[in-house]
Amino acid sequence: MDGTTAIVVGGASGIGWATCRKLHSLGARVVVADVNTDAARQRADELGDRAAARHVDVRNEDSVERLFDEVTDDFGGVGTVVDCAGLSVPGAVTELSLEGWRTTLDVCLTGAFLVVKHAGRHMVDGGSITLIASLNGRQPGTGMSAYCSAKAGVLMLTEVAALELAPGRIRVNAISPGLVDTPLVAGVSLVPGLTEDYLENTPLGRSGRPEEIAEVVAFLASDAAAWMTGANIDVNGGAHTRRYPDLLAHLAALAP
Ligand SMILES: NC(=O)c1ccc[n+]([C@@H]2O[C@H](COP(=O)([O-])OP(=O)(O)OC[C@H]3O[C@@H](n4cnc5c(N)ncnc54)[C@H](O)[C@@H]3O)[C@@H](O)[C@H]2O)c1
Repeated sequence: MDGTTAIVVGGASGIGWATCRKLHSLGARVVVADVNTDAARQRADELGDRAAARHVDVRNEDSVERLFDEVTDDFGGVGTVVDCAGLSVPGAVTELSLEGWRTTLDVCLTGAFLVVKHAGRHMVDGGSITLIASLNGRQPGTGMSAYCSAKAGVLMLTEVAALELAPGRIRVNAISPGLVDTPLVAGVSLVPGLTEDYLENTPLGRSGRPEEIAEVVAFLASDAAAWMTGANIDVNGGAHTRRYPDLLAHLAALAP
């Protein structure tokens, strides 16, 4: 990836940070873009040469547009974009607040739309966009209506954007991770039995490491994937072949 510039949105933590390290190790200039500006700066410092930090809030179109304008001005263009920004506000569908629903949709789905929109407008010489979707884009989980709906939307956005951007030689693909050890899912281990339930439903019998997702991002960004667009790759230890744990049942068991 020598000479290419990669923007990793949500790059300061978890899967995004592993992706920054991987793309940087392959020679790319890496822009660590995150709503957590201090963490992004620290991460860029850790990478050293060929790294920069930028603030971005994917809920805000001006912020996303500014990110792409600045990176294009500063580095002469962008060839690889990865969107790893995500969060989940859980809750039964009859209990979830509209605010919780909107927050999840804003970051996970509208954020992905804004990243694809402005990446597509700035990639004048082709490129690769990878969206981190989720196993939950196809597999429903109780208490996760907002997250599952958002990620299902990301999978369809991937396909539509792939169709529209192909004439400009911009490839758009998605990755659907299962349970990956990152700060996002730290709460899982606090619910007795929930991790075990996940793993019983994962044929390979363990959770994933962020680096295992970053490997697939690097593949999708490379010429080895030159004929791939509109694809969704399951990286989840086979969990898509089974069922999702019943989160609400686990939480109910905790109640006094
Ligand atoms: N960890 C898992 O088990 C898992 C499984 C499936 C899918 N995913 C998806 O992978 C992606 C990365 O998740 P992770 O586990 O690395 O989480 P993480 O919490 O470690 O990292 C998410 C990053 O996104 C950033 N972010 C949050 N809101 C933002 C915003 N409005 N604008 C810009 N940046 C923002 C956070 O600051 C953080 O650095 C997410 O889309 C998540 O839904 C994770």
